[in-house]
Amino acid sequence: MSEIEKEISDKDLKKILSLVKSYTGITMEERKRELLGTRIRPQMRRLKIFKYEEYIDCIQNNPLEKQKFINLATTNETHFFRTESIWKYFENEFLPNWWLSNKGQTLRIWSAASSTGAEAYSIMMLCEEFRTKEFAFKYHVYGSDICTDVLEIANQGIYGDKVLAELKLKRPMLHQKYFNVISSTQSQIKDEFRKQVEFAVHHLHIKSSRKEFYDLIFLRNVMIYFNEPDQEMVLRHMKENLKKDGILIMGESESLARLKTDFQYSLPLIYKKAAS
Ligand SMILES: C[S@@+](CC[C@H](N)C(=O)[O-])C[C@H]1O[C@@H](n2cnc3c(N)ncnc32)[C@H](O)[C@@H]1O
Repeated sequence: MSEIEKEISDKDLKKILSLVKSYTGITMEERKRELLGTRIRPQMRRLKIFKYEEYIDCIQNNPLEKQKFINLATTNETHFFRTESIWKYFENEFLPNWWLSNKGQTLRIWSAASSTGAEAYSIMMLCEEFRTKEFAFKYHVYGSDICTDVLEIANQGIYGDKVLAELKLKRPMLHQKYFNVISSTQSQIKDEFRKQVEFAVHHLHIKSSRKEFYDLIFLRNVMIYFNEPDQEMVLRHMKENLKKDGILIMGESESLARLKTDFQYSLPLIYKKAAS
């Protein structure tokens, strides 16, 4: 039986890294050789391709394999209510303040790079909780990602115990209220709440063609994968998609301090769109 080449050669690695960059915008370093090999090899086995060079040809000539390669290149770690402080801000400051000055309007929030949807559904749960106090409150959550595998999970809203463990521990009432337990190890967001969140494929390096403007964008734990000029470009796109006075929330290891942007620091991880 033929075996897949053990190591990715320098030449093939260069080509693979350039495809990762051109398809996803992710800047990967050569030290990711092992990681890429581990992610790519199972797909090569399925395709009965044994040379990286042939696999490279295949993804360039087959749109389905190109998308699978994009899915393999992305890192999708996420969980519900990641980074407690921003959720406290969202629940206790952002929502009441927004409501005070926008009664009658629909709050629009974008979870850009939503992965499997844990962030978008965390937003949904707190918006629903807010609605129990303000019945007229309306909102819409949009989640997007470049990886179609995670969007499939997001659309189904089915999560395993490992992802739900922290939610069950820290906010057990929310798990009870918003999920159906569907097996001993899985829960699914209830239909009536799932439909409050819409998911779609979107590459952050491309300007969004959506017509809506957002009050708040969560752009968390994705900028770390981009180089500085690309980070600045993504932030220009975010600025264009935000309403006047819109808010941008970043991930824990992502600061805008060194970047040229039109955002002003407001609180840790929280930025406000500057007046133009
Ligand atoms: C580490 S996850 C972060 C998920 C979530 N925002 C959070 O903080 O928990 C990063 C996500 O960014 C997505 N991603 C990477 N490059 C992207 C791009 N160019 N456009 C859109 N999404 C991208 C990945 O597919 C992955 O799901």
